[in-house]
Amino acid sequence: QRPVNQAAAKPVPTLPDAQTVTSVQHWTDRLFSFRVTRPASLRFRSGEFVMIGLMGDPDPATGKQKPLLRAYSIASPSWDEELEFYSIKVQDGPLTSKLQHIQPGDQIILRPKPVGTLVHDALLPGKRIWFFATGTGFAPFASLLRDPETYEKFDEVIITHTCRDVAELEYGRLLIEKLKTDELMQELIGADHLAKLRYYPTTTREESPKMGRITTLLQDGTVFRDLGIDGITPETDRAMVCGSLGFNKDIMAILEGFGLEEGANSDPKHFVVEKAFVG
Ligand code: A2P
Repeated sequence: QRPVNQAAAKPVPTLPDAQTVTSVQHWTDRLFSFRVTRPASLRFRSGEFVMIGLMGDPDPATGKQKPLLRAYSIASPSWDEELEFYSIKVQDGPLTSKLQHIQPGDQIILRPKPVGTLVHDALLPGKRIWFFATGTGFAPFASLLRDPETYEKFDEVIITHTCRDVAELEYGRLLIEKLKTDELMQELIGADHLAKLRYYPTTTREESPKMGRITTLLQDGTVFRDLGIDGITPETDRAMVCGSLGFNKDIMAILEGFGLEEGANSDPKHFVVEKAFVG
């Protein structure tokens, strides 16, 4: 027997786990950030990631569409009512070639199951925390830097960000500038040269005040001289790392050379690492 209401029997053309884009900002021809509505039930720890994406093209044989999902660090802090993401644009990337064209009002798919290792729970208490990022690896730190817990847990917070050129630093630079002028955050981080939050941006392919890979600058002691720090030790220092595979590997070796050990949610230690995900 045919259903009485035929319209109701048709598939509904909405995405599963749909969220609505509220704003989009393009930083360079390789980088953009965007904000989406947050599912009311979504709880996450600053630094975690979720799977997000769009519907893929129809399969030529069956005409069926499958969601095209990638892991994205949530760049907004856990208290924010929206969710923010910071993404690379890969011109022939299956997802980001499309995702870079989203506009406010569009829908994306967001699977509300946050996970990840760049969380405070995976680190032992310490005096100083280092956030080491390259490129879009800044995203989880954009969340953690805006989370008061970071400043409650540590006396000093150092974020290093290495990018190819100056324009690629802009998202992070602006975020830190806003933090330093935010009245509520000022109470936590201070506003003067004694501020708890220290920002150490470097570029590798364009002239800027600080040139070079952070790995090199750590190995030759430049970072410590610039920041007036004796060095990194397991007694005082903790670190979170997010960048390309090669970067993560190189930083890990450096941190292990300083005597730090890798931790996990179930076994907190001195540092944790996560790959910056490329769509
Ligand atoms: P470089 O220009 O010397 O390759 P990308 O845009 O390719 O993701 O790179 C982001 C930044 O990370 C670039 O400045 C790049 O430097 C740097 N980088 C890439 N690999 C490493 C590594 N193994 N150690 C330190 N920095 C790295």
